[in-house]
Amino acid sequence: MRRSIIAGNWKLNNTEKEAVALVTALRNVFIDLTELDIVVCPVFTAIPVVHDVLFESNIAVGAQDLYWEDSGAFTGEVSAPLLKELGVKYVIVGHSERRQLFGETNQTVNKKICAALRYGLTPIVCVGEVLQEREGNKTFDTIETQCKESLAGLTAEEIKKIIIAYEPVWAIGTGKTATPQQAQEVHQFIRRWLVKMYQDKVAMTIRIQYGGSVKPENIAELMAQPDIDGALVGGASLKADTFIQIVRNSSGILK
Ligand code: 13P
Repeated sequence: MRRSIIAGNWKLNNTEKEAVALVTALRNVFIDLTELDIVVCPVFTAIPVVHDVLFESNIAVGAQDLYWEDSGAFTGEVSAPLLKELGVKYVIVGHSERRQLFGETNQTVNKKICAALRYGLTPIVCVGEVLQEREGNKTFDTIETQCKESLAGLTAEEIKKIIIAYEPVWAIGTGKTATPQQAQEVHQFIRRWLVKMYQDKVAMTIRIQYGGSVKPENIAELMAQPDIDGALVGGASLKADTFIQIVRNSSGILK
């Protein structure tokens, strides 16, 4: 059985004060909600205050990136043991913005996944095609290469600990969501690839989130697809009421 997981990727938004107000609202509303996992991923600097507000709540804290070395001469980087120390449970790896703007490759994504797993952090590994690839019928090729290279060398035990987020790049921040059928098609492709690599029993336990213009209005239809196990929400996770509505409209679905 796969438990649904809704995560908010705040990107470079929210001061400490704004972050505290947002998670205080979420904490109060979701106090009794136990049927799915909820995660918020603030900027690094807001993690401590967010963690304080969410302490002993059912909302977990995630980070948006990490570096693969533990420590050393790597100016500006933040490592897995440091995130662990702050009470972080999840970490987004290989988001398309990091791939496009900061030179992230499948190889660096792979090192980051391994670093996260070494410290018991759950990596949320992002894959997704750009518009040109979709229009050139290259979506499956792109996704397969990203999965193959980003997840290279992971054992069955390790792969069970990760989450995959399918985020078509053309749907991120554009208001243009993939249709539930378009998203399901790629999620199913990823699941079949996992079956091929790791067998049925393992592949069926791995959660695959959809990301890209998720809103309260489209989440239920997306979540109704057999291989969509949750969402990675950008813009709509910045306001308490829309994020709450997304969680409410998606809850209670076990697959
Ligand atoms: P939007 O929900 O703003 O499209 O962003 C999606 C995303 O990039 C989440 O990681």
